[in-house]
Amino acid sequence: MVNSKHESTAKKDLLIVGFLCNWCSYGGADTAGVCRFNQPTDLRIIRIPCTGRMDPLFVVKALIYGADGVLVSGCHPRDCHYNVGNFYARRRLEVLKRFLPFMGIHTDRFRYTWVSSSEGQIWQQVVTEFSETIHGLGPNPGVHGETDAKAAMSFF
Ligand code: FES
Repeated sequence: MVNSKHESTAKKDLLIVGFLCNWCSYGGADTAGVCRFNQPTDLRIIRIPCTGRMDPLFVVKALIYGADGVLVSGCHPRDCHYNVGNFYARRRLEVLKRFLPFMGIHTDRFRYTWVSSSEGQIWQQVVTEFSETIHGLGPNPGVHGETDAKAAMSFF
């Protein structure tokens, strides 16, 4: 017998926020759309000029105030239109990953990656895998008040 309550939860869209660099990954997502590759419907994209513009607090705030997962994607290393933006991003986002557990946030809820504008199929794979990971984790407990993540944010 199928549990209808469980089934409706499993099919429910979760909220994944994607911060995509204008020059590469946003183009990659667009290429995937133009090529009509199937993609999960739970990703909401925010276009940023470069991953170097990513403040790690954007990720933390998204996860605390409503997102179930956050994906950051930019140009491949050495392809950044501003030369070193993604190198700065990589450093900051690696440090962020280590801090997430201290805020009660599972590290798998956050991922950063590099996808160029010609890599529509890779974009499809990345976003599909990430969405499956987030669905495997389920809704973000921080959003539903089961952790002290909001209290942790008061330090900022
Ligand atoms: Fe794409 Fe810098 S312009 S990561």
